[in-house]
Amino acid sequence: MQSFNTLSLKVTNNQLWILDQQALPQETVWHPSPDVAALVEHIRTLRVRGAPLIGLSASVLLALLAENGMPVTALEHALETLRATRPTAVNLMNNLDRMKRALEQPQHVPALVQEALRLIEEDRALCEQIAQHGATLVKPGSRLLTHCNTGGLATAGVGTAIGVIHHAHRQGHVERVWVDETRPLLQGGRLTAWELGELNIPYRLICDSMAATLMAQGQVDAVWVGADRIAANGDIANKIGTYSLAVLAHYHGIPFYVAAPHTTHDAACPDGKAIPIEQRAASEVTGVAGSFGICQWAPQDVQVYNPAFDVTPASLISGWVLDSGVITPEQVQAGIFTQALR
Ligand code: MRU
Repeated sequence: MQSFNTLSLKVTNNQLWILDQQALPQETVWHPSPDVAALVEHIRTLRVRGAPLIGLSASVLLALLAENGMPVTALEHALETLRATRPTAVNLMNNLDRMKRALEQPQHVPALVQEALRLIEEDRALCEQIAQHGATLVKPGSRLLTHCNTGGLATAGVGTAIGVIHHAHRQGHVERVWVDETRPLLQGGRLTAWELGELNIPYRLICDSMAATLMAQGQVDAVWVGADRIAANGDIANKIGTYSLAVLAHYHGIPFYVAAPHTTHDAACPDGKAIPIEQRAASEVTGVAGSFGICQWAPQDVQVYNPAFDVTPASLISGWVLDSGVITPEQVQAGIFTQALR
């Protein structure tokens, strides 16, 4: 396969490498991902994370394994193993469905390689389109609040919600970004803070629980988030804490926008209740792990509830910004998400 690199994924000398998103921003560590077991581990531990990136990394690995001579039955098994790594982000399933069709071709090796590279290129282009459409909604002088990480680390391009913010900032419309730290795994405090710093976009980091106060003080003009799945009725799943922000934004009369590529849309999923929500390890909540080791503050035998995502109902969303354009609540009520978008 030809070499390429994105911010957090690269192929050199026919080897897949991933940038460790658990080590950032303290350390920049690239790990090889030579086989399915390695990538499964990277995805489950969130070294590779973000809805688009999970699907892209799995697709690229399959193509490389095919080039290395893995037989078709083993590739089929590998595909299903990768599909089962994380349940909520549908981009993984959508990308792997396309890879499965390539695997069914008589010349499956070039078909898989072309499809994986096409997915990377498409994701770059989708991010650009989302950024352009979304920026039309950002008014001059905006103070925007975002949650989790939706940038170049999570995609092959400029990102989704962060892509919009970046584009609007280049137009001079962003005064400041409020970055939710995003407990428990701190994707905001570690990754979004790092990315916005690299992009020279002014931001301030806040604890998730501070958003309400900022909104009450009139210091937030809009909320921008990404999504892991958009159901047919417009409900979305995204990082835990997104729903709380949507409720708060609604209460304070602040627009709440969702930015995502069409690969995040699942027309077969009727509503948010049908979206599978990943449950994660108690250790993510009982303390924190980092380059310093593990620090546990909760009692040893504590019981924990740790859903990685929540569902925001369509009724709380002001606009869905897709690569095809801005979708309004009226269009969602008329059933636009019940159709295939591409
Ligand atoms: O558990 P994560 O870090 O993979 O969750 C990521 C999110 O929830 C993002 O907001 C979403 O995947 C969109 S990334 C463009």
